[in-house]
Amino acid sequence: MSILRVENLSKTYQSGGRSLTVLDNVSFTLQPGDTFSIVGPSGSGKTTLLGLCAGLDRASSGSVYLNEIQLDNLSEDQRAAVRNQYVGFIFQNFQLLPTLTALENVMVPLELRGEKGAARTAQELLERVGLGQRGHHYPTQLSGGEQQRVSLARAFANRPKLLFADEPTGNLDADTSATVVDLLFELNREAGTTLVLVTHDLELASRTQRVIRIKGGTVISDTKPERLTV
Ligand SMILES: Nc1ncnc2c1ncn2[C@@H]1O[C@H](COP(=O)(O)OP(=O)(O)OP(=O)(O)O)[C@@H](O)[C@H]1O
Ligand SMILES: [Mg+2]
Repeated sequence: MSILRVENLSKTYQSGGRSLTVLDNVSFTLQPGDTFSIVGPSGSGKTTLLGLCAGLDRASSGSVYLNEIQLDNLSEDQRAAVRNQYVGFIFQNFQLLPTLTALENVMVPLELRGEKGAARTAQELLERVGLGQRGHHYPTQLSGGEQQRVSLARAFANRPKLLFADEPTGNLDADTSATVVDLLFELNREAGTTLVLVTHDLELASRTQRVIRIKGGTVISDTKPERLTV
């Protein structure tokens, strides 16, 4: 059983009477526990691909199966339910809710699932990303890297089967980046979470089992890095 299956996925935007194809016929399959990265130049379609895989957006053609559930025919609400059950997402632009504190942002997915002790769990998650003292701060009171770590804690809160991370280390210094990357791989090892990373950091990409490179919306290579660390 696959955790993520993408078949002939394409996405075309219509704007100003012209159409722009940003993803063209992308296919791949991931098994539970796989680690996978997507690399490619700016504008090549990486964020678009991640959004389609997570059911945040609809493809123009092709299919996405998440935990063998076909997303294409589901309503917005049904896709949200699948996401809440299986998916964690770390957005390139964080997407924290501005009117909620850091702690409350991390609590959102827990409360959506009706979990008891959401505040305590959220506090523990913030401690894991080094922000135990900052729970009462609002996103605007946090630096970019701190917001990114809150976003990471929120993505972990669901104990997702599948974690999508769009440039998870894009705004972090070397030390914080190493901590965040260790957390991602720890989640993979300990909970079997499948990792799908978009990154410009080839060193980080080389730590995943498989790397696809996209350019102009098409997959131009699909490789297994030789140097596999932990
Ligand atoms: N809603 C939209 N309407 C029209 N074009 C869009 C829309 N969203 C994205 N695009 C275009 O799709 C292309 C791919 O965008 P995407 O965000 O997936 O790139 P990316 O590979 O993630 O780039 P980066 O590395 O800069 O984050 C870009 O040319 C972008 O301008
Ligand atoms: Mg992007």
